[in-house]
Amino acid sequence: METIPSFRFFLLLLFGLIILFLVLYPLENFELLDCSVYKPWCISKNRIQAKSNLFSQTPRTKSIDHLTESPHHPLDPLTFQEINLVRAILSSYPPFASSSPSPSIHYVALDEPDKSIVLRWKKGDPLPPRKATVVALLNGQSHILTVCLESNQVAGHVTNPASGYPSLTVDDMAGVLNVTLANREVGRIITARGVDLSNVACIPLSTGWYGASEDGRRVLKVQCFSSHGTANFYMRPIEGLTVTVDVDAREIIHISNTGQGIPIPQAAGTDYRYQAQKKKPLHQQLNPISMEQPRGPSFSVEDGHIIKWANWEFHLKADQRAGVIVSRAMVWDSDRERLRSVMYKGFSSELFVPYMDPSDGWYFKTYMDAGEYGMGFTAMPLVPLNDCPRQSHYMDGVFVGPDGNPYVQSNMVCVFERYSGDIAWRHSESPITGMEIRESRPKVTLVVRMAASVGNYDYIIDWEFQTDGLIRIKVALSGMLMVKATAYQNLNQVAEQEYIAGTLVSENLIGVVHDHYVTFYLDMDIDGPDNSFVKMNLVKEETTPGESPRKSYLKVKRHVSKTEKDAQIKLKLYDPSEFHVVNPSRPSRVGNPVGYKIVPGGTAASLLDLDDPPQKRSAFTNNQIWVTPYNRSEQWASGLLAYQSKGDDTLAVWSARNRPIEDRDIVVWYTLGFHHIPCQEDFPIMPTVSSSFDLKPVNFFERNPILQAQPRFPKDLPVCRAADSA
Ligand SMILES: *[C@@H]1O[C@H](CO)[C@@H](O)[C@H](O)[C@H]1NC(C)=O
Ligand SMILES: *[C@@H]1O[C@H](CO)[C@@H](O)[C@H](O)[C@H]1NC(C)=O
Repeated sequence: METIPSFRFFLLLLFGLIILFLVLYPLENFELLDCSVYKPWCISKNRIQAKSNLFSQTPRTKSIDHLTESPHHPLDPLTFQEINLVRAILSSYPPFASSSPSPSIHYVALDEPDKSIVLRWKKGDPLPPRKATVVALLNGQSHILTVCLESNQVAGHVTNPASGYPSLTVDDMAGVLNVTLANREVGRIITARGVDLSNVACIPLSTGWYGASEDGRRVLKVQCFSSHGTANFYMRPIEGLTVTVDVDAREIIHISNTGQGIPIPQAAGTDYRYQAQKKKPLHQQLNPISMEQPRGPSFSVEDGHIIKWANWEFHLKADQRAGVIVSRAMVWDSDRERLRSVMYKGFSSELFVPYMDPSDGWYFKTYMDAGEYGMGFTAMPLVPLNDCPRQSHYMDGVFVGPDGNPYVQSNMVCVFERYSGDIAWRHSESPITGMEIRESRPKVTLVVRMAASVGNYDYIIDWEFQTDGLIRIKVALSGMLMVKATAYQNLNQVAEQEYIAGTLVSENLIGVVHDHYVTFYLDMDIDGPDNSFVKMNLVKEETTPGESPRKSYLKVKRHVSKTEKDAQIKLKLYDPSEFHVVNPSRPSRVGNPVGYKIVPGGTAASLLDLDDPPQKRSAFTNNQIWVTPYNRSEQWASGLLAYQSKGDDTLAVWSARNRPIEDRDIVVWYTLGFHHIPCQEDFPIMPTVSSSFDLKPVNFFERNPILQAQPRFPKDLPVCRAADSA
């Protein structure tokens, strides 16, 4: 979502960041080569000695030449050259070749080879044939094409497979903003609200779907803000002005103007940039802090996409819709002396963000950020030292623009090791035992991070790998609230009983109550594709009179889900279960099936009516956990075409088929949920709020897998001392 003014600003920012990075990059290297730059800080011989090592081991973004890059792994994303080839093939494909207007390209990605082929493939083997999936729009019809890059042919072509349209392109958004800002009536309304037309910022908002009257054309809604006196125009809405635009006809359908009398909230205090803070911090600022890695990081990046760290190995790539995709996650088992499969593929499949205000300018705000905008599409370059620590490895996305040309989304993913002072395991013995045992191991993890800025909101998505086999998937929210302007300045002016849709977070500003649901696709392959989903239900048992001094205790009832309906899980505090994905044909030494469990977190559930149009479209949030049989065409929980979809191609629809899921290749879906009742601290920008869930080994290893982890001693780490006088 960009505004015309802020679109320019965004480009400037992007170039600025690139230049900044280019400027910072050699500086950082310089520091590594010559400690004198940071001399007061760095006095350790250790560190200086390690330097040459550090330099060669540091997995930084080498200046990858995207123009000549070639794929090395069956799952590697399409390269620049491959995307160009797709465009060339399409340009001579009859329905697309001479069409006018030319088709607009909304998504291009690798059409991944069949799982069995990928599983058989070994490094050094030739790559299986490369294919692309293309989602395009031509004359109002959605086309899904499979393009074969070996035979230079379109190998598959489906039109309008379900309701809905592909995600928005930058041209869709820019074009819609263009017609809005060029409209005289809109201009008159804005001027009448006291906003100068040179200070208007508008954003394109997806409309959801609310009935047949919206069928047959792509529609966007535009709302505008005053950018006068602040970079944070989101806090200055021109409330009540909603312009509905036909995206393809570039035509205004309707102008709704209900906000007369509602002032534009003030600019003062809204700017969040450091340079705009006039008051200096009252308390002492923190000293700079960073993690020491005197011998460099312990991970390596092979062929651009294979990450190897400690006992983990996985494939990592950026995706325009999902953001990042983690594939072929395998963990080394030192008892069995081999890499064991944990997850074939995992990614954030959809985000659903419904706002809780039924009024005209707000009811439609029920976004699906992955399918309508794209998590990779909206992922900006990460900010070194602030978004990701020093020694991070940055990865680019290679995506496609509406004209079919490839472009680079630079530094949108970072990979880094984290030591945050946590403990991996420990035990001390009390002197009573006569044993002086003090055993403790520090916890170090590996994080894969991206941050999508979908208009006002920022979603930070982390995949964190632990050496004990646990994977933590975390979503943190920041950015700006979507706020509603009001005539009220103080809560004492609001009549009792009046519903104001949220919290008064500042004068004339309501932070509207809303939810966030992030649904993850988790194709678990525990020691192979054929797995079962098991509920380990804790139930209360009562003792018989005289049996025990206890009246009650808990017992585990094991239930293997036979079909999909059996695995539609609504979490319940007073009827708890663990949720295991096991390989029934791989018992552990003592006979337990090896497995991983889904450990829920972020357990907010949607309370909307199941028949409410947005809930129907986002019915994948009706349960917190679903399990489906693996089907390569069921990956996007909101359906392949999410924009204005009616809900006929969602996870809920697939799951209703109630297919068998026992002892077969299954996919687990988990939804992290957040209810957000805004508060004043969320103004003018929100401190991050986060929730996470875990994939944790259960009876997967024969014992604690990090028993052999080394303790740390002072000699392992350089002594870095703050300067006496600096
Ligand atoms: C915006 O409108 C101007 C003038 O009407 C036109 O020249 C320009 O190409 C338009 N831009 C987009 C992105 O549609
Ligand atoms: C695979 O998914 C597609 C789309 O939902 C569906 O049409 C097809 O029937 C599914 N195949 C199986 C075997 O379930």
